[in-house]
Amino acid sequence: MNLILLGPPGAGKGTQAKRLEDKFSIAQLSTGDMLRAEVSSGSELGVTAKKLMEAGELVPDSLVIGIISGRIDDEDCKNGFILDGFPRTEAQAEALDEMLSSKELKLNKVVQLVVDEEALVERVTGRYTCAKCGNGYHDKFQQPSKEGVCDNCGSEEFKRRADDNEETVRTRLRAYHEQTAPIIPYYEAKGLMERVDGMADIEDVTKQLERILEAA
Ligand code: AP5
Repeated sequence: MNLILLGPPGAGKGTQAKRLEDKFSIAQLSTGDMLRAEVSSGSELGVTAKKLMEAGELVPDSLVIGIISGRIDDEDCKNGFILDGFPRTEAQAEALDEMLSSKELKLNKVVQLVVDEEALVERVTGRYTCAKCGNGYHDKFQQPSKEGVCDNCGSEEFKRRADDNEETVRTRLRAYHEQTAPIIPYYEAKGLMERVDGMADIEDVTKQLERILEAA
């Protein structure tokens, strides 16, 4: 099962991909996470990506296509993968098609998380993660059961992303509308598009996605 999760910043792609990863034993491939790892490692790619990411702009297609292509060959993708944050441009969508056909793989579904744009800024600016295990939380929508303590690993250290401020979120939303939304008709024409209500609560969105995956 190979799936794309599509939606603007804060739509819930990462939250849902993690949940589906466990249930369907397929790998979450987040280009945002991969790029943040490059930034932390201080690699040449990371240095290029850092400025663009902090400004809310997209990283050049060639860099992102390169990192995803290598990743799809890894052992944990043998049972399938969920692309989270890729493709994000028409050039990336076309490169993905070529990549998959050269590996004799195919896409099963492209699912768009449909959300109300005004809710996104609140979702993104309230997001934080455990600094130790990466578990995701939100100031209002997803708090740890014990305040200040990670449910997953017990750590008391948390962090926020440098690009999760209102100004950058608005630039990221613009990039989504100008460069990513135009790929929706590309997948509609292939008969792969499905839509779910991303404004429902987290558990309900997972159920909608599970139904789509189970029927695919
Ligand atoms: P990336 O990391 O992909 O960020 P993004 O697309 O902006 O998406 P987010 O991670 O912000 O949102 P999400 O949909 O995953 O939401 P989440 O589940 O966390 O990319 C970052 C940057 O990297 C880009 O700007 C670009 O520079 C670069 N980049 C990455 N990929 C690239 C590519 N392919 N090409 C070029 N450049 C690329 O949810 C958000 C919050 O809301 C969480 O706190 C969560 O708890 C909460 N929440 C989730 N669902 C719900 C719900 N149903 N109800 C209430 N709260 C919810």
